[in-house]
Amino acid sequence: MNVQTLEETAGQLVAPGRGILAADESFGTIGKRFEAVGIESSEESRRAYREMLFTTEGIGEFLSGVILFDETIRQEASDGTPIAQVLERAGVIPGIKVDKSTVSLPLSPKEKFTQGLDGLGERLPEYRELGARFTKWRAVITIGDGIPTRGCVEANARALALYAAFCQEHDLVPIVEPEVLIDGDHSIERCYEVTEWMLRATFDHLYEQGVELSGMLLKPNMVISGKEASRQAGVEEVARATVECLLRSVPAAVPGIVFLSGGQSDLQATAHLNAMNSMYDGLPWELSFSYARALQGQPMEIWGGDVSKVEAAQKAFYHRLKMNGAARSGSYSEEMEQEAA
Ligand code: 13P
Repeated sequence: MNVQTLEETAGQLVAPGRGILAADESFGTIGKRFEAVGIESSEESRRAYREMLFTTEGIGEFLSGVILFDETIRQEASDGTPIAQVLERAGVIPGIKVDKSTVSLPLSPKEKFTQGLDGLGERLPEYRELGARFTKWRAVITIGDGIPTRGCVEANARALALYAAFCQEHDLVPIVEPEVLIDGDHSIERCYEVTEWMLRATFDHLYEQGVELSGMLLKPNMVISGKEASRQAGVEEVARATVECLLRSVPAAVPGIVFLSGGQSDLQATAHLNAMNSMYDGLPWELSFSYARALQGQPMEIWGGDVSKVEAAQKAFYHRLKMNGAARSGSYSEEMEQEAA
């Protein structure tokens, strides 16, 4: 493990004004997202869509990194340039999702367990060769009647920690993603409780595995009301609950926290990040974004698989990046949304 390399990469990924795009949807997930806007999912449509995103002029200003899916890191842009190189040339660091998605947790079918540890140590050198400098692994925790169970929290936290250790051994910065889902009618207080539990368990296991905290990034959910909850917490309340929860559970040695959007609307995800950065000064870690849906919703819909819409889709994508870039310093305002029109 080269701690200096890890720290440098982690630092670049959370550089001021920039954040991460998660474009690592698995075949199933991208299929669902495409279907919702009438795009047929094929190797070529996925390639063309992602090329459209990555060749958007000026993305390096607001994007520090992009998380790719296994298929994409092996693909080329239309001019024959490998996708990872397209990103490098734009000043964006390529990363790769290395988990192998979730299965039902044995004997607790309403919960999930993330797989992918077998053979991970052998897969990583190839990803490095292909240009990746960081990785992602997502664990999923569901809130519901009697869940999460301790078995689910512990199993997923342990897998996250082992994943991070494998990656650091290969000088790849692990993004550790323990996602407490927004699905359900639970309160923001319940989300806080479960998020704190999962984060504490995760950092316990990271410690046990000897993971260097200064050479990793955390990708958590925000502390937020369940999607179906009768009371929806406001922007400042979400910002406060999230930062307070993180202060109680994330060691100061971690250089950055890069949130997932998790089903929030594009504007909510930006407003929440902005509120945290404007309300708090001198936090021990950078607070940034690593969004998939909240960055891609509009551009995907506009593109719709139509070559003639590339420019309009790229414009929408650039705008969303710029808004989130501003949220990094707490300088975003809703009036800035008008610029897109
Ligand atoms: P969302 O921003 O759509 O939640 O996705 C982030 C991600 O990478 C999930 O693993």
